[in-house]
Amino acid sequence: MKNDLLHVELGRRYKFAASHRLHTPRLSEEENYRVFGKCNNPHGHGHNYVLEISVSGKIDPATGMIANLADLDAFVERHVLEEFDHHSLNDDVTAFHDAVPTTENLCIEIFRRLQKFPHAKLERVRIQETGNNSFEYAGSTEGNHL
Ligand code: NI
Repeated sequence: MKNDLLHVELGRRYKFAASHRLHTPRLSEEENYRVFGKCNNPHGHGHNYVLEISVSGKIDPATGMIANLADLDAFVERHVLEEFDHHSLNDDVTAFHDAVPTTENLCIEIFRRLQKFPHAKLERVRIQETGNNSFEYAGSTEGNHL
């Protein structure tokens, strides 16, 4: 089978729990509360995030796979889950010392990290924050900076 022209994506789902506080020094205390509501609570709150990633690549003729799931899992574990799971996004993830840890920004930060996966091309990151909201990021040609 000629598979150079085929576009196949591999999707994988991960879960992590983390806490955050939505707050920005760019706004006053009152404005922070008005914008973020109870998510501005000084002590933060937690979410059970569901992270879905999609990667694409050529199918290896020998294995029939785009990438080995064990390689992908190890990479996600090392570059995202170890630092995020059961941590405070504000305090424990350097990127959120300056940027507000909304799920929009979380998508961009996770995309930036997983883009370095050497065995396939990262197409998309999708994060479900609650049963009612999810966010998706597919990268930018201008770079993926918060
Ligand atoms: Ni929240």
